[in-house]
Amino acid sequence: MSKAALCSDRVLLNDWHVIADLTNLSPGKAFNTRLLGVDLEVRYLHGDCDDEVVRSESGEHVRSARRYGFLWACLGEPERDIVFVPEAEEADRYLVTGGSIAVRTSGLRAVENFLDMGHLPFVHPGYLGEEPHTEVAPYNVQMTESDEVLATECKFYQPFASPSAKDGFLVNYVYKVIRPYTVALYKSNSIHKDRLDTITLFVQPVDEENCIAHPFLCYVKDGTGEAAVRSFMQLIFAQDKPILENQVPRRLPLDPRAETPIRADAVSVLYRRWLRDRAVSYGAIPARL
Ligand SMILES: [Fe+2]
Repeated sequence: MSKAALCSDRVLLNDWHVIADLTNLSPGKAFNTRLLGVDLEVRYLHGDCDDEVVRSESGEHVRSARRYGFLWACLGEPERDIVFVPEAEEADRYLVTGGSIAVRTSGLRAVENFLDMGHLPFVHPGYLGEEPHTEVAPYNVQMTESDEVLATECKFYQPFASPSAKDGFLVNYVYKVIRPYTVALYKSNSIHKDRLDTITLFVQPVDEENCIAHPFLCYVKDGTGEAAVRSFMQLIFAQDKPILENQVPRRLPLDPRAETPIRADAVSVLYRRWLRDRAVSYGAIPARL
């Protein structure tokens, strides 16, 4: 791999990031990846405590942990625990890792795309939207007490919202940005419409202009099965990937004047402001003062 810009954002260096889906690792076989511009080598051994993650250049050890079917790493001193996903503890859900999808763009762009309802009928026609149902109705955005960006009362018509869908319906959505590179969505289950399926997208910032999306799905058991949930997610993400890779510039502009906000972008406007306030610059084009 070529040299990449290193990260100086403490909030990112001292946080946990997914660096691999455990199903992609083979016992005893080395695995190379990159996090925040740092090349890492995973020496994946046996058991729960034997993972070894080192910086490829120096051999220096990096903190690592397993959770939710992923291998995690923190390059600095962890200031917070790995993001807690309460739905992962509910016995009546399928817990599925959605595959690791490499995307040539900033991970911040991947998060913002995940928040964008406006693209659904155009990028995922016949699945997550369809014409003429293209208007994004007003919704609420706010900060939570835990300092997360929360969008509620989002509603969107979807012809085929999930693999168990029998017909189209108005799907309720909630979005939550939990960390700069971690975002979750909650949407009505197609069979049990009063329950919410959850997708948490853990985005690995490979460097400023490359990321790997690691989706973690907690879907209400509705007879679909894990394999169908996984392949639906991969089909949807395969539609997003070329769109994301065509966005210019690859880093996310944080200047409020950089891209004209419209009402449907209320959650991304708040997300960008939240990144600015936290001095997150990695993967971004910082706002001019
Ligand atoms: Fe999409």
